[in-house]
Amino acid sequence: MFPSNASSPVNSADCPDLSSVGQAVAPAAYTEQYNADFVSRWDELIDWNKRAEGEGTFFSQLLLQAGACRIFDASCGSGFHSVQLRRAGFDVTACDGSPTMVRQAKANFASRGLDIPTLCCDWNDLDPRQLGTFDAVLCLGSSLCHVFEEAERIAVLKRFRRLLNPGGVLLVDQRNFQAILAGQFSSSGRYYYCGKTAKVTLGELHESLCEFVYTFADGASYRLRVFPILPGRLRGEMRAARFVVKQSYGDFKSVYDPMAADFIIHQAHV
Ligand SMILES: C[S@@+](CC[C@H](N)C(=O)[O-])C[C@H]1O[C@@H](n2cnc3c(N)ncnc32)[C@H](O)[C@@H]1O
Repeated sequence: MFPSNASSPVNSADCPDLSSVGQAVAPAAYTEQYNADFVSRWDELIDWNKRAEGEGTFFSQLLLQAGACRIFDASCGSGFHSVQLRRAGFDVTACDGSPTMVRQAKANFASRGLDIPTLCCDWNDLDPRQLGTFDAVLCLGSSLCHVFEEAERIAVLKRFRRLLNPGGVLLVDQRNFQAILAGQFSSSGRYYYCGKTAKVTLGELHESLCEFVYTFADGASYRLRVFPILPGRLRGEMRAARFVVKQSYGDFKSVYDPMAADFIIHQAHV
């Protein structure tokens, strides 16, 4: 992922030849997409206060109802949910595979005086023999959409499952790609990406790629390329990883319009 306003000249010799019609463009690895420049603006993009207002106590209530104490935040990003849940009294371990995100999360924990165990680990390397087991695994912020292949997503979900205690809970969310692929992209700005200094629009979009373009007021713009998984398909993949899918929510509500919600949150257990 590159800032599209980058002033550095593009050397065409460095670019792949994309001239053939229909040629697939390989998605950049997530560690490249979350480069230091973009990550330094992540908190501006999400606006922690407004995001906390939009979510309310949704996640902590679900976790309390499930009797969960020990939480593994598998895609912590800059640490938003780890902080909310630690402050709500949960025992949280934060994890992300992006070194730049992990640095930002650690800085956010330190500046808030929170001591949250934090590790940099790709999902494929998660191992309960090293990490122990948890009452809940969270994979939030539409993070699983960074995995493009179905078999790989199911393998990741199985990794999450191995981290869970008997009866443990999995919370996975996603952008509402059903609405997006139907041409109804909306970013209400009330949930997840609440910052007012950036605009989220769509770039390339088809059934195997969705590109989000984040443009800041100062003109800087960044692109995230993800797999636009449909909510029903993701639920099927969770079942394939031997989870019992309990419920899905649209923008934190159990009754929702499947074409109007920005984000869908799935709750499952082992
Ligand atoms: C859209 S961000 C969401 C961050 C945070 N959960 C939030 O909501 O603000 C997606 C996160 O997933 C992480 N991620 C993507 N693929 C991963 C993988 N294979 N292993 C570990 N982390 C991954 C990225 O590094 C990034 O921090």
